[in-house]
Amino acid sequence: MHILVVDDEPDQREMLGGFLRKQGFTISLAATGKEALTLMQQLNIDLALLDHRLPDINGDALLLELLQINPLLRTIMITAYGAVETAVSVMRSGADDFFEKPVDLSQLLARLKTLEQEIMVDCDAAEVGAALSLESDLPLKMVGKSPAMRELLSIVRRAAPTPWTVLIRGETGTGKELVSRLLHLLSPRREHPFVALNCAAMPENLVESELFGHEKGAFTGAAGRRRGHFEIAGGGTLMLDEVGELPLATQAKLLRALQEKKITRVGGEKEIAVDIRLLAATNRDLSEMVKAGTFREDLFYRLKVIEVEIPPLRERREDIPELIKALLERHGLEGIEFSNEALNTLARYHFPGNIRELEHIVQRASTMARSSLIQAADLPGEVRFPEPNSDGSLEERLAAIERRILIEALEKHDWIQTRAADSLALSERVLRYKIGKHKIHKP
Ligand SMILES: Nc1ncnc2c1ncn2[C@@H]1O[C@H](COP(=O)(O)OP(=O)(O)OP(=O)(O)O)[C@@H](O)[C@H]1O
Ligand SMILES: [Mg+2]
Repeated sequence: MHILVVDDEPDQREMLGGFLRKQGFTISLAATGKEALTLMQQLNIDLALLDHRLPDINGDALLLELLQINPLLRTIMITAYGAVETAVSVMRSGADDFFEKPVDLSQLLARLKTLEQEIMVDCDAAEVGAALSLESDLPLKMVGKSPAMRELLSIVRRAAPTPWTVLIRGETGTGKELVSRLLHLLSPRREHPFVALNCAAMPENLVESELFGHEKGAFTGAAGRRRGHFEIAGGGTLMLDEVGELPLATQAKLLRALQEKKITRVGGEKEIAVDIRLLAATNRDLSEMVKAGTFREDLFYRLKVIEVEIPPLRERREDIPELIKALLERHGLEGIEFSNEALNTLARYHFPGNIRELEHIVQRASTMARSSLIQAADLPGEVRFPEPNSDGSLEERLAAIERRILIEALEKHDWIQTRAADSLALSERVLRYKIGKHKIHKP
């Protein structure tokens, strides 16, 4: 757990920070409200320990600003001894607890431990997934025990019951849609519809009608009245996928709909009240788009009340074996296993298409393989011979290509070196040398 200690008195700050660091917490220190806000923006803080009296800002006001940066932040306020009014105002301000000075360190530690447990709620991903897939025929099992996945699950669990908008960021195939379905199913809206709308897949002139609906005759082709996704998702959750693709004019209308909780159908006049929880997903860098003027800053802040970042698969390779197992099960391929060599090959691959790509690889290898134990040779070429890093040196890139040609020739000739050497117009000795140099092994 990462704790931010905010106190203007250096002695108190160092004492608390030093004590907590010894207990194994990650600690950051701030002397002013301003410093606290900066650190909060830069770091992944789970809990803040705030002195109620700071030189530049009142503790309650600071708390509100910190919660705007991360609504899931836990806070403990430290107040002057015997200040009853302070205690009342602190509890009203939304702090989880308060301690009077001088702080009883063992009591503080006990409280921190319970809060830490609440934060790190048992986030056994598979358990959540198993419970949920009972209610749904969609594959909702969220697999992965890497620290990154645990953190992700912990945020999802805490964010789900809130009404706040969640901005889900991640490369293609990392599980953005899966995460949004989990957010819906773990929310009080679970009995109501979950509707996902892909903003990239719609022609620009139809986006507004898809979102807000239209009245009969609103535009050429609008034969009858139609409800938009804001109405279809009524009472439930609306997920806007690829939200970065929304045209600027629609962004303005979306913002208004979110602020006023009302929409007007295209070609209509009546305002219709809508009740949805919005989720948004993107694989683009929206803050860059804001700078470039292609995404509205106000909408950006309205969307990213809570941010969830799904790490690419190559940054959590330890999840691969468990994911393979789950994916085999999902496709009814239980009897199939991957050899260690095949797993090692996969562990080196960079997975530009992330889990969706792994899913395809697993399916394809299972149907192509000659036995129920999948070998490295059963994996597709791009996995076994990944394109050499495009920023590598010429020498490295040529070496990768040479290695690939050698393996292909050896396979074609059933690993009989004389034949492979012949086909490449090499002497057997040179071939053997190159096999050694490229660390090529017969499977
Ligand atoms: N942690 C996970 N455990 C098991 N399966 C997963 C996990 N994450 C993703 N998947 C599976 O990977 C596939 C892709 O996931 P999803 O469609 O949610 O990705 P996405 O980020 O929305 O992709 P895109 O950007 O292409 O829309 C789905 O079949 C999904 O079930
Ligand atoms: Mg998607």
